[in-house]
Amino acid sequence: MVGADVSDLAQFQHPRFARMYERISAESERRGTAEHRDRLLSGLAGRVIEVGAGNGMNFGHYPDTVTEVVAVEPDDHLRCLAEQAAARAEVPVRVMAGHATALPVAAASFDAAVASLVLCSVSDVSAALAELRRALKPDGELRFFEHVRSDKPWFVLLQDTITPLWSRVGGGCHPNRDTAAAVSAAGFDIDELDRFSFAPLRFFPSHAHVLGRARPRPTTQ
Ligand SMILES: C[S@@+](CC[C@H](N)C(=O)[O-])C[C@H]1O[C@@H](n2cnc3c(N)ncnc32)[C@H](O)[C@@H]1O
Repeated sequence: MVGADVSDLAQFQHPRFARMYERISAESERRGTAEHRDRLLSGLAGRVIEVGAGNGMNFGHYPDTVTEVVAVEPDDHLRCLAEQAAARAEVPVRVMAGHATALPVAAASFDAAVASLVLCSVSDVSAALAELRRALKPDGELRFFEHVRSDKPWFVLLQDTITPLWSRVGGGCHPNRDTAAAVSAAGFDIDELDRFSFAPLRFFPSHAHVLGRARPRPTTQ
């Protein structure tokens, strides 16, 4: 097992953001995120690892073909809420303390890995994707749902400009990442990619999201 040292999660504690996320995730769910979560998780089966599970908003969307979800979350407040959501879930969910670049799980032990609205926040995206790849069986699948860098130059300028402040108040969130490119660069083949514009909150302009499925690219020996 690689990276089981989760003793220092202090850097991942964002109590103010966590309390805000508890509120805004409920609004976002009502404004369409629930449907995107259904699409994200549709057809999954077997053991699933979910990284940065937050307050557990995905748990109610897993199909009953999933036999276990291991949900890793570093923030204490959100993890506590995730444990409550796990108790209500219809599939078995085990919530664990940990973070994306040192997942406390064995290699090649999961049929699927799920990242939703989290690759914007991890400080090292390629290391996080490498960890998910390590946790996946060779024939496993990565599912991702993320808000991403715009393809409109003026909006990119806005995203780049606000990122330093946004990241400070938004629990480390970077609105300007090209996450699909990062998935590909991390050694995954993307089988499906839906890119769409969506406004998850009332006072936010609609912005680009991606929802995709990818498989670890076979390594050539
Ligand atoms: C916007 S919330 C999304 C929560 C959840 N995935 C969802 O779909 O609602 C971002 C989450 O990423 C988590 N996070 C931030 N950095 C992380 C890291 N390095 N490893 C794992 N999770 C991280 C935060 O604690 C938070 O729970």
